Amino acid sequence: MGKLLKITLVGIIVAFIADRVVQLRHRLNISREIEPLELPHCQLIKGIEVGSEDIDILPNGLAFISSGLKYPGLMSFAPGKPGEIFLLDLNDENLHPISLRFSRGFHLASFNPHGISTYIDEKDDTVYLFVVNHPNFKSTVEIFKFEDEENVLLHLKTIKHELLQSVNDVLAVGPESFYATNDNYFTDFTMRFVEMFLGLGWSNVVYYSPNEVKQVASGFYFANGINISPDNKYVYIADFLAHTIHVLEKQANMSLSPVKVLQLETLLDNLFVDQNTGDIWTGCHPNGWKVFAYSSEDLPGSEVIRVQNILSDDPVVTQVYVNNGSVIQGSSIAILYEGRLLVGTVFHKALYCELD
Ligand SMILES: *[C@@H]1O[C@H](CO)[C@@H](O)[C@H](O)[C@H]1NC(C)=O
Ligand SMILES: *[C@@H]1O[C@H](CO)[C@@H](O)[C@H](O)[C@H]1NC(C)=O
Ligand SMILES: *[C@@H]1O[C@H](CO)[C@@H](O)[C@H](O)[C@H]1NC(C)=O
Repeated sequence: MGKLLKITLVGIIVAFIADRVVQLRHRLNISREIEPLELPHCQLIKGIEVGSEDIDILPNGLAFISSGLKYPGLMSFAPGKPGEIFLLDLNDENLHPISLRFSRGFHLASFNPHGISTYIDEKDDTVYLFVVNHPNFKSTVEIFKFEDEENVLLHLKTIKHELLQSVNDVLAVGPESFYATNDNYFTDFTMRFVEMFLGLGWSNVVYYSPNEVKQVASGFYFANGINISPDNKYVYIADFLAHTIHVLEKQANMSLSPVKVLQLETLLDNLFVDQNTGDIWTGCHPNGWKVFAYSSEDLPGSEVIRVQNILSDDPVVTQVYVNNGSVIQGSSIAILYEGRLLVGTVFHKALYCELD
């Protein structure tokens, strides 16, 4: 090889790497410092100390909270303890979370819950809870029936599928069917980092039912939270690294067709949809680097965002709460119930605030 060619090649590689470093800094918003935005009536929920990564709520105010996620590259304050699902009644002023029991036979020691979703069967009001689980850092979706009289989760089914490689979040759309956001790598954090570094759009959304399993959307950098509009027509997907919410239309055959993409300025985690207003609420990571490179000297912050009228030409995006980690670290979900806000975090506590 000629000397000139070698120099040119090295130049191209250096430029490529430099470009990817710039891109990744941008995607993680590494240099972002935050301006705090406090709310007046807030308190931490006692008993939730090692994560409240995802929360879903029933129309009657009962919230399910997944806690104790162990995820490659992320902090855990209780690495040896199995995960839990808490139940919190937002009608009860005492705010006392109950750790739900599981039916006999469910393998609790390896329970590592991540995204969750509830489904109510209108025929008989049965409540199903779908939980993304990572036993031994694999990915499964567990389906439970919630028995409210005894506060027990009756385990019905474990779903594994080759298309469900590394599942993040789930949206239940029937007693046995769901959409899931999914990625290529889970255990192999090096490969995941390479994927993030190269900016490969390898993350997708999979539809699962007992009769059919298929990819229904693709090309995301990191598809994270997934939820649905109150009329069940539109599915919303958060792309964590692209700082976007994708709106897709659900077809009769369960395929998803792209409608629009809303650009935000923060790393979005899970999405909650207010069934009364259709507003989207999300817990975000203002600075993605601080979440992956945890340091008690430089804590990851929290940010709650509300999006109104996402389908209109002028959606309204509002910052509702911002904290630098002094109160809560790494917010991943925010739900609203009758003027009460509940903010969950990947590996830290949970915050409850009364809005006016
Ligand atoms: C699903 O339905 C949509 C719209 O009706 C159609 O465009 C698409 O081809 C269908 N997909 C499959 C896999 O049948
Ligand atoms: C990073 O955060 C700042 C706000 O501090 C925002 O203005 C900027 O657009 C964000 N960057 C990206 C890529 O979202
Ligand atoms: C974080 O915010 C709190 C309250 O707003 C403030 O007292 C503290 O100095 C801030 N910490 C850092 C490291 O900026």
